[in-house]
Amino acid sequence: MDVVVVGSCMTDLVSYTPRQPKPGETVHGTKFLTGFGGKGANQCVMAAKLGAKTAMVAKLGKDSYGDNYMENFRTLGISADHVQQTDKAASGVAPITVSEDGQNSIVIVAGANLLLSEQDVAAAESVISKAKVVVCQLEVPPATSLAALKLAKSHKVCSIFNPAPAMEKLNPEFLVSCDILCANETETELLTGRAVSDVASAQEAARELHKKGCNTVIVTLGDKGSVVVSDNVDGLHVPVTPVKAVDTTGAGDAFIGALAYYKACMPSLSLTDCIKRASAIAAISCQFPGTQASFPTASQLQSELFTMT
Ligand code: RIB
Ligand code: NA
Repeated sequence: MDVVVVGSCMTDLVSYTPRQPKPGETVHGTKFLTGFGGKGANQCVMAAKLGAKTAMVAKLGKDSYGDNYMENFRTLGISADHVQQTDKAASGVAPITVSEDGQNSIVIVAGANLLLSEQDVAAAESVISKAKVVVCQLEVPPATSLAALKLAKSHKVCSIFNPAPAMEKLNPEFLVSCDILCANETETELLTGRAVSDVASAQEAARELHKKGCNTVIVTLGDKGSVVVSDNVDGLHVPVTPVKAVDTTGAGDAFIGALAYYKACMPSLSLTDCIKRASAIAAISCQFPGTQASFPTASQLQSELFTMT
């Protein structure tokens, strides 16, 4: 396998509205759609659409959302040998509101995702140990993600950790157990206790996380691009060409899934180039509605994104 994701599956229930409702307010929406989401699966799907051989380690409910999700993995050629359907909880769902400026607010009801256990990770050791890149987030129990990162490390498999959704009091072991930490502004604020609003504050926060033992830190800043700190890169800013956003849902996942693809399938590409290309792919996803539905496949992208120079 090129990329193995240990993480969540959600069915996205997306309402498009002129603006986000205020507390106590009802607004008329203009459109509704359901789609496949969940940060873990989104990242896996992005890597698969670019051409990576992928596998998912996840838990769904024994219900129609779960059945449909299994079918989605089959359609996309993602191995679901380690995706179980449990009758002890419902499949995860995510009601989402997207306003006209393309911004979203999301509620997740994780359900079966919260039953993905350390035992499930151990049972997937054969696939995790042979992966080129393992990716984890925080929509399953944190102990499960940490177990996956540690297992990857014990097999010298490169890992990307995306501490999303943002969580307070994250176990500091996460920082030393992953190879690449990739966090947005809010997530970085919670990890460091520092306000992160621009390139300079993101650089400071990334340096602090690197000092705490994290090999490579990427802080993403939406349309301001991202900054990187590693042993040989000190706070490099990688800008992104701004686009007119229609729906930014899952753009962060497109970035991480693409990054995982490049690390696994084009390992000699520099980290900066991986980030530039992943940002360009994430920006494309913002210009189309939906989450996985808006992620481009390799054949829809310029060939320059797949060549070495
Ligand atoms: O990052 C976007 C994702 O967050 C959505 O697909 C939703 O399911 C939530 O997990
Ligand atoms: Na989108």
